[in-house]
Amino acid sequence: MVDTGDARTPAVTKAVVPAAGLGTRFLPATKATPKEMLPVVDKPAIQYVVEEAVAAGLDDVLLITGRSKRSIEDHFDRAYELEEALATKEDWDKLALVRESSELAIMHYVRQGDPKGLGHAVLCAAQHVGSEPFAVLLGDDLIDSRDPLLTRMIDVRDQFGGSVVALMEVDPEEVSLYGCAAIAPTADDDVVMVTDLVEKPVPGSAPSRWIVIGRYVCDSAVFGVLRETQPGRGGEIQLTDALKVLAAKGELRGVLFHGRRYDTGNKLDYLRTMVMFATQRPDLSSEFIPWLRKYLEGMP
Ligand code: UTP
Repeated sequence: MVDTGDARTPAVTKAVVPAAGLGTRFLPATKATPKEMLPVVDKPAIQYVVEEAVAAGLDDVLLITGRSKRSIEDHFDRAYELEEALATKEDWDKLALVRESSELAIMHYVRQGDPKGLGHAVLCAAQHVGSEPFAVLLGDDLIDSRDPLLTRMIDVRDQFGGSVVALMEVDPEEVSLYGCAAIAPTADDDVVMVTDLVEKPVPGSAPSRWIVIGRYVCDSAVFGVLRETQPGRGGEIQLTDALKVLAAKGELRGVLFHGRRYDTGNKLDYLRTMVMFATQRPDLSSEFIPWLRKYLEGMP
């Protein structure tokens, strides 16, 4: 275990990426393909997520996988036949692209037999993580690489201990679609104490406009709480329910995120994400943007 110098707050070195969900909002594409493997331009969503973990200094990555998720493991592994074919053709650029994902991080896998919820998926990481704090990055939620959210969350954990969630402000009419945080200010402008969490609040009753997004830095105490957490909404063990317990004990902070986040877990947000990434790609934008403009102008 790497130590930050303070016995109470060992350093965060491990990332956990849950990717065992059924992806029902994206059927039929997700019947045999995990939604985390759907491409955003030319890379599967989950590769961006692993790249983000590595950029924050976490190169020990545990993927929680499940039914029909083998393609995720293959993606982060060597592909000898393909590599040999590209080497024979002396196509070094493509060879580098193929190798990139297998050289990114030290990948570990654990299977979540039954997708019994995000909390249950995180609990599957207990043995690998042990007593260290760890980051959780949802495999279908992308944060722009120019906005170092996870690094800031790890700083907050290093400074104060406890667990940290990422919060993003949304319009009042959207709050009831998400998990929402009751918050209190701290001495740092971008850090709050989370005093409660409310999953999908009834419109008008939300404690704030700050919703929980798919990045967490958890103290290992969360495992003990998850073991005691009964299945909640939809018969699933919810991570939010365990975090509520930590919030009530004054052990949960929030980092207020004002950057760019892209959801790939449902069809409409996935389409938005794809267009935003494509319009920002230097190798595609000069042709894609004029085409997109012309296409939209020609629409009835
Ligand atoms: P979601 O609720 O977005 O994923 O979970 P889902 O259940 O696959 O999606 P829908 O609602 O059926 O379309 C957020 C993240 O948690 C993972 C998912 O893979 C996703 O990355 N997850 C969810 C698990 O790993 N295990 C679970 O039991 C549930």
